[in-house]
Amino acid sequence: MLNKKLPKDFMWGGATADFQYEGGFNEGGRGLLSHDYETNGSIEHPRHHTMKMPDGSLINPRSSFIDAEDVPDEAMPIFIDDQYYPSHQAVDFFHRYKEDIKLMAGMGFNVFRFSICWSRIFPTGEEEKPNEEGLKFYDDVIDELAKYKMQPLITICHDELPMELVLKYNGWASRKVIDYYVKYAETLFERYGDRCKYWLTFNEINAIRGFGPTGVRKSNGQDRYQAAHNMFVASAKAVQLGHKMMKDSQFGAMYAMSEIYPATCKPEDMFFHLQEHRENWYFIDIMGRGYYPNYAPEVWSHHNVKNIEMAPNDKKDLMDGQLDFISFSYYRSNTVKDGDKWFNVGGSTNPYLKETPWGWPVDPLGLRYCMNEIYDRIQKPIFIVENGMGAIDQPDDNLYVCDDYRIDYLKEHLSAMADAINIDHVPCLGYTMWGPIDLVSLSTGEMKKRYGLVYVDMDDLGNGTLKRVPKKSYNWMKRVIETNGLAL
Ligand code: BG6
Repeated sequence: MLNKKLPKDFMWGGATADFQYEGGFNEGGRGLLSHDYETNGSIEHPRHHTMKMPDGSLINPRSSFIDAEDVPDEAMPIFIDDQYYPSHQAVDFFHRYKEDIKLMAGMGFNVFRFSICWSRIFPTGEEEKPNEEGLKFYDDVIDELAKYKMQPLITICHDELPMELVLKYNGWASRKVIDYYVKYAETLFERYGDRCKYWLTFNEINAIRGFGPTGVRKSNGQDRYQAAHNMFVASAKAVQLGHKMMKDSQFGAMYAMSEIYPATCKPEDMFFHLQEHRENWYFIDIMGRGYYPNYAPEVWSHHNVKNIEMAPNDKKDLMDGQLDFISFSYYRSNTVKDGDKWFNVGGSTNPYLKETPWGWPVDPLGLRYCMNEIYDRIQKPIFIVENGMGAIDQPDDNLYVCDDYRIDYLKEHLSAMADAINIDHVPCLGYTMWGPIDLVSLSTGEMKKRYGLVYVDMDDLGNGTLKRVPKKSYNWMKRVIETNGLAL
C-alpha cells in the first residue's frame, strides 16, 4: 500500500463562510448583506431574492445561478414575512463559536478557514470608521483558536457585498468598490495581522453570477467581466498592502475548481473542453501569473464583452500583487462535449462516475489531476480550502449519524491528495474540508445538504435545538489527523 503520510507541517482544518454559518445578522452592529435577502430553496425550487418595485409589486429574481437574471435598477430588496432567509440565523456560530472551535480542536485541526462578514466591519461599506463590535467578535474568535493552537485562514470576501454597495454602485461593476474593499482589507490587516498569516482575498472568484461574487444586478457579460477585472485589481492592491503591513503574510484567492473532462476524444469535444477550461484558467492565470493571457479576448467573445476598462496602473498592480499560493474548492468533476450550453456547470453525464443526491459526480482522482494541473501551470503552492460531500444524514434518537458514505468520500479524496503530494511532488500547504460543523448550503439554501463531521440539529426552515453532535466521521477524521494521513 502506498504511504499516505503527509509532510510534518501540513495544515489540517475546516472551512466556513459567514452567511452560511455565522448568523447574528442583526446583532453587534452588523449591516445587511446581499445574501440576507436570499430565501431558502432546493434543487426543484431555486433560491431567490425578495424585491419590491416602486409600484409595490414584488419580484423574485433567481440567485446563485451563473445566468442570473437582470434585476431592474429601481427594484429594492425587502424582507417578506412568510419567507425564510437562511443567512439570518445560519447555524449560529455567532453565539456558539467557543463550542464549535472546541469541537474542531478535538479532531486535531490546526487551522480554521472562516470568512469575515464585510458588513459586520463596515455596515454599509462606506463608513469612515469600522464597527468596533464587529472587529471585537473576530478578535474573540481568533483568540479562541489560539487557545487550541489553531491558526486562522481568513477569507476577506466570500461571495458577498454590503447591500448598499450592490444598490448604489451595481457592486463590483464600479471601481469605487475597489477603494472600499482595500480600506476594509487594511482594517483587517491592522487588527488581525499579528495573529493571521494566511489570507484569501476572494472566494470562488471564477463563479461570476448575480448577487454573489460580483454583486452585479445585470446578467450581461460586459458588466460581469468588468466587475471581475475590478476584483482582480482590488485583490492585487490588497496583496501588496498586506505584504507591506504583515511580514511573512501569504495570500491566495479561492477558485471553484471542477476538473473538466472532454466527453470523448473527438477533436471538437477536445477543443470545446479546452475553451471551457479557459473559463477557469482566465481567473487563475491573471491572479496567479499577474497578467491577462493571450486567450482573454476569445473568452470575452463568448460573453459579449466589448472592452475591459483599465486604469493606467492596473497592469502594474496585477503584476506586483500576484498571489503567493493557489487555493481552490474541489467537490466534483464536469464532463463537456461540443455543442453543450456554454459554461454549463453540470455539463454532460460521465458514465464512469456515481453522483450525489444533488447530481454532483464523485471523482477523487479528479482532485489529484486538478492539483497537478494547477501546479504544472502556475508553479505556486496549492492549498485545498474546500472539499467534502453534501449528503442527507439520518440521525438516530440520540442525533448520532453513522455516515460511512462521508468517510468513504473523504478517504478517497484525501488519498488522492496524498498521492499528488507524495508521488507527484505537488507542494500543498494544507486541506480545510468544507463545513466541518453542518451549515447551510450555498446553492440551495437547504440544511439537509450536510457536509459536517458534526451534526447540527436544525431543519431547512431553521427549526431545531441547534445542538451539536459528533458523527461517526468525527472520530475517523481525528485518527487521520493524529497519524498525519497514515491512517488513510
Ligand atoms: C463552495 C462555496 O465553492 O461550494 C461554498 O465556496 C459552498 O460557499 C460550497 O457552500 C458547497 O456548495 P453547496 O451549494 O453544496 O453549499
